[in-house]
Amino acid sequence: MPHRPYIVGNWKMNGTRAMLAEARAIDRAAGRYPDVQVAIAPPFTLIGALREAVSAMGVGGQDCHVNAKGAHTGDVSAQMLVDTGADFVIVGHSERRKDHGESDVLIKAKAEAALAAGLGIIVCVGETLEERDGGKAEAVVSAQVTASMPDSDAAADAVASGKVAVAYEPVWAIGTGRVAEVADVVAMHAQIRQQLLALYGDAGAKVRILYGGSVNAGNARDLLAAEGVGGALVGGASLTAEAFLPIVAAADNGEA
Ligand code: PGA
Repeated sequence: MPHRPYIVGNWKMNGTRAMLAEARAIDRAAGRYPDVQVAIAPPFTLIGALREAVSAMGVGGQDCHVNAKGAHTGDVSAQMLVDTGADFVIVGHSERRKDHGESDVLIKAKAEAALAAGLGIIVCVGETLEERDGGKAEAVVSAQVTASMPDSDAAADAVASGKVAVAYEPVWAIGTGRVAEVADVVAMHAQIRQQLLALYGDAGAKVRILYGGSVNAGNARDLLAAEGVGGALVGGASLTAEAFLPIVAAADNGEA
């Protein structure tokens, strides 16, 4: 892996204050793996408490609004995430694309708003099973990358400083226990890398490309050792230290 691997837990709509103990345990262990960048994106309600509870790992949001403030009931802005202690945000997760009808255009605007607020970003892309079975996976992901990544002028500083990541998450692999074939992951990551180089020039090499979709202790080593895989976005297996830490350890070994 050319970069420091990035292992991110996406807690989705899971977590109350009772889970802070898990976060503390993950954080203590993260401190023992300085070669791995570890982070958790809890629900909005826990970001502040998690920030207080941890020291070695990053804390992020799972979404943000495009505007800084205003009449948008129920929404949270990138500036608010910064204010409560987040250092990055996930945008364009397939569950937001599906549950909230988020388009590539909206996701790009969110990514640019997050960067303007000083957050790192993880932009998610990935095809559905129907699209893969129809032979369209590459075209779908290519179109998502083209339309949802921030423009090079908006992203230049963040790209250069390693604050921009892409997560390739095949929708059919999320929460299903069904993991993509390593060869397919390698091929898709290579395609995404070419697009990032075209978009951002040489600095595009600094964008980490994470794999996501049913990553767990059993498959993490093979996935993280694969060519072009710069880390993992982990849902279900990030909810306990017991499940998450072997993935962090696999990333550490993967790099050595
Ligand atoms: P999963 O979720 O690890 O539970 O499949 C990954 C994600 O949606 O980010």
